[in-house]
Amino acid sequence: MNISDSIRYIGVDDLDIDLFEGQYNVPEGMSYNSYLILDEKVAIMDTADGRKGDEWHRNLIAALDGRKPDYLVVHHMEPDHASLVAQTAEEFPSMQIVLSAQAQKMLPQFFEHSDFTGRTRVVKEGDTLPLGRHSLTFISAPMVHWPEVMMSYESEEKVLFAADAFGKFGALCNETDDWACEARRYYFNICGKYGVQVQNVLRKASALDIRTICPLHGPVLGGDLTPYLKLYDTWSRYEAESEGVLVAYASIHGGTAKAAERLGEMLRELGAAKVVVSDLSREDQAEVIEDAFRYPCMVVCASSYDAGVFPPMHDFLYHLQIKNYQNRRVAIVENGSWAPTAGKVMRSMLESMKQIEIVEPVVTLRSRMKESDLPALRAIAEAVLKQG
Ligand code: FEO
Repeated sequence: MNISDSIRYIGVDDLDIDLFEGQYNVPEGMSYNSYLILDEKVAIMDTADGRKGDEWHRNLIAALDGRKPDYLVVHHMEPDHASLVAQTAEEFPSMQIVLSAQAQKMLPQFFEHSDFTGRTRVVKEGDTLPLGRHSLTFISAPMVHWPEVMMSYESEEKVLFAADAFGKFGALCNETDDWACEARRYYFNICGKYGVQVQNVLRKASALDIRTICPLHGPVLGGDLTPYLKLYDTWSRYEAESEGVLVAYASIHGGTAKAAERLGEMLRELGAAKVVVSDLSREDQAEVIEDAFRYPCMVVCASSYDAGVFPPMHDFLYHLQIKNYQNRRVAIVENGSWAPTAGKVMRSMLESMKQIEIVEPVVTLRSRMKESDLPALRAIAEAVLKQG
């Protein structure tokens, strides 16, 4: 999969990985993208994860076809892309490492035994690197997804090397037409906290004539780029992508689960465009986080536990806090057999987030949902939808 005769793909698929970044399920694997620009000068655009170092090296050597790289451009220092910087620098002693000032500071943190003196070329926003017909202009992209991140724009072929932005979970050999599904889960779980910074980069990108986006994960994006840019704009503004309600529950013995399922049915009966009911104890939390951001409304239902809230719900809300969940309507259902406490904790966690409208009143169940609870559940379902 080459971008052109001059821009070659030298990345690798990883089908052996169980958890990406130590926490995300990737049943379809992961790709670590890397590119090579062949012109009067030769530039390697990022390396790959050391897990696939041998394969990446074979791809590099084959694409070089006897030439030597002049530059290694490091857009991002995270080890899934920069693990092989030191060994590549050692192999090609005349090669310069092109990176941001922040990335330069990180080099000795990752490569204690390497000496990069005289080997680095620090670039900043707007700097250019002529390669011949091709030329790179650097775009600072701090916190998308680390502080040292930069992107680069190649003006001859109008290619944006976008670092982690526009990436997705999944190996390229398992790629499907549905880019958004795993790109959304990737975005909200990995970059979700940094909407403002993503907006800043999108503003800079809007001034460029981009024909192709080369991200560090997932497929190279070409053709009409509008749908991808539009989704990134919606996501980074923390706006809902589509109508619907997420009902997320954490249930110890199944009582709260029954109420959540019943509430889901009520929402469907009332005509909700889409209802997703998720069990926080069993389902992939990253998927549920994705749905929380996808829809404008959420209902959280949880058992009380140790004078607080059942931990799977606490963990979920904690993740929403750190991912900057905001600008949504949320209803609360708590359950408790003697002193319900879940509602208070959930409310307090939600109130610490920006622009969260709590749909009143909090519904309290005692041990099991009973006939007498149905009107309150129905009322909250109506309230969630009415305000939509
Ligand atoms: Fe794909 Fe932030 O590393």
